[in-house]
Amino acid sequence: MLSLNVVGAGKLGRTLAALWHQNGVFEIAGLFSRSAANTHEAQDFIGAGTAVSDLDELPHAQVWLLAVPDDQIESTAAALAPIIARHQSLVSKPLMLFHCSGALPASVLAASGVDLLASAHPVHSFADPKRSLADLPGSTVALEGREEVINVLEPAFTALRCNCIHLSPSQKVLYHTGSVMACNYLTVLMDLSLQVFQAAGIDNKSAMTLLEPIVVQTVKNNFALGPARALTGPLVRGDVATVARQIEALHQLAESSSTTNNDSDSTSGIQAATLAEMYRALGKAALPLAEKAGLSQDARRQLQSIFDEP
Ligand SMILES: NC(=O)c1ccc[n+]([C@@H]2O[C@H](COP(=O)([O-])OP(=O)(O)OC[C@H]3O[C@@H](n4cnc5c(N)ncnc54)[C@H](OP(=O)(O)O)[C@@H]3O)[C@@H](O)[C@H]2O)c1
Repeated sequence: MLSLNVVGAGKLGRTLAALWHQNGVFEIAGLFSRSAANTHEAQDFIGAGTAVSDLDELPHAQVWLLAVPDDQIESTAAALAPIIARHQSLVSKPLMLFHCSGALPASVLAASGVDLLASAHPVHSFADPKRSLADLPGSTVALEGREEVINVLEPAFTALRCNCIHLSPSQKVLYHTGSVMACNYLTVLMDLSLQVFQAAGIDNKSAMTLLEPIVVQTVKNNFALGPARALTGPLVRGDVATVARQIEALHQLAESSSTTNNDSDSTSGIQAATLAEMYRALGKAALPLAEKAGLSQDARRQLQSIFDEP
């Protein structure tokens, strides 16, 4: 069994290490995060590995995972260079290094001096590592980089019942942007929706109860029917007056929040302005879909001019 060091034992690092340990895929060697408390918490969660308080204390491992935040990957790879070189001098087989960022290519690790580099991005939200232990199977992992590393990582993720796809470095940024739009921005839309319900005097708990069945049904419809057939509501029906009233209501909300707030507390005024702006922008983006679903040219022109109004 190959051994694995994890640098950055946060949400993703500890979840993957725990699953690989449970499934006998990698022997978990060393764990490092800057805060000792974090590293020990990860060790308890994984149930294996040696927690170290300095990169230099990491034990020998054939495979190294750099699971620090994206902005820290390049500098941490550079910091690892002399350490990995020392480990490499003790063995003949070349060591491997990979990261899990969706947006960055494997080459961002070049400063480590390691030749066998890869990136492996699980299309999964590791918001809660405990839940991810159960939920990761079935997710897709996008692999990119040197064949020798992919040949290790593909079976490692397949053993966790993930599906692997292969990307070129030039595909990564747009590939990741696509998953951010569907996953992260869905969460942002939920938050914006709750703000509008709150403005209507409906508390978060009631709004969540009301939203859960329809949001889940909408997600299912998108996968079963595709976005054009899943879209319902005033835009598809061409209910121009309803859309105009909703925009007007959001503008009034923005005006009343900005006049009721003093200078030091204008956040909710800005937020309300964002609601109107988002409604217009998403409405515009919905028009081609609505047209595919049967919206008339005339209604489309009227809606377009409402969304374009200053
Ligand atoms: N979360 C997700 O849903 C998800 C999904 C797919 C891919 N990813 C990718 O997975 C990677 C890790 O993301 P994450 O969500 O797991 O982040 P995270 O929960 O913030 O964990 C990052 C870990 O790195 C440590 N760290 C930060 N800077 C460091 C440094 N300079 N040296 C050593 N350790 C450092 C942090 O602990 P200390 O602050 O104590 O150092 C923490 O344990 C990223 O590349 C991300 O793009 C994440």
